Amino acid sequence: MDSPVFAAETLGLTKRYPLAWKRRVVVALNKLDLQVRPGEVFGLLGPNGSGKSTTIKLLLGLIRPNEGEARIFGLGPDDLEARRRIGFLPENPYFYGFLTGDETLQFFGKLCGLRGAKLTARINELIDLVSLQNGRERPLRSYSKGMLQRIGLAQAMIHDPDLLFLDEPTAGVDPQGSAQIRDLILRLKKMGKTVIFSSHLLEQVQEVADRVAIFSLGRKVLEGSLDDLLTEKEATLVSVPGELTDARRDELERLLAQSGFTGANVQFSRPRLSLEQLYLRTVEAERQP
Ligand SMILES: Nc1ncnc2c1ncn2[C@@H]1O[C@H](COP(=O)(O)OP(=O)(O)OP(=O)(O)O)[C@@H](O)[C@H]1O
Ligand SMILES: [Mg+2]
Repeated sequence: MDSPVFAAETLGLTKRYPLAWKRRVVVALNKLDLQVRPGEVFGLLGPNGSGKSTTIKLLLGLIRPNEGEARIFGLGPDDLEARRRIGFLPENPYFYGFLTGDETLQFFGKLCGLRGAKLTARINELIDLVSLQNGRERPLRSYSKGMLQRIGLAQAMIHDPDLLFLDEPTAGVDPQGSAQIRDLILRLKKMGKTVIFSSHLLEQVQEVADRVAIFSLGRKVLEGSLDDLLTEKEATLVSVPGELTDARRDELERLLAQSGFTGANVQFSRPRLSLEQLYLRTVEAERQP
């Protein structure tokens, strides 16, 4: 059987930066082995400086490793076919402030070889996808941070890549804007795209990622599917609608005791909303006419 072709794969990938006085080096990434399957949404987590952006830049071929290898759909990152299949939203995207949203997408579309009616159709499609109808005619210098991130996402998708690298796509974006970006990532997944993204917003990562890797000081210290990592194997939570009256609680405790569940092992609690759920629910309720 053929070995599977990963959307992105690294083998012993290592990046060192010499410090100014050359005697010491920063190990930005240390022997990273990573495999991302086609169609997966993969989250890169970790504190500032732990190697997330370095991993993305090495996979994109923007910087060279000191050791190891990066592969995109089985090809080297410099391979033209690999480049055609990837899109990138950088950590701090740089755009021309005097171009409008439409002009920006025309500019990047032309760089990717798109022209005429095909380009116009693609721009219309992307503007809808990232909900930037109100930014089409406005220069980017008047955009809010959330709008800039969305035009950045549209730019990354202009050539319909199979694999998207998003370096902190929701950095500085308000909760509603972040939720839109989260929904966009889920839509990309439905379209069969592979998304590799970094983020510090753990709740959001939890909502979109299939698998995550956690980095610390250039090393991958934990990796797995969220289902596996977040399922508490030592307990089962049972939820019932509404509040539990004392009488029903006693009744349940008796039933549980009959099955051998007693004392401190048995806990009753009300499920909690995440802060993000509460915020979005409140803000969205306010917006209803
Ligand atoms: N061009 C460079 N020259 C020297 N050191 C660098 C360079 N780029 C990155 N580093 C160092 O490599 C390490 C990893 O940086 P990286 O940007 O990958 O972190 P990160 O996980 O993306 O952090 P953040 O969450 O802040 O974006 C850091 O110690 C950083 O200072
Ligand atoms: Mg970074």
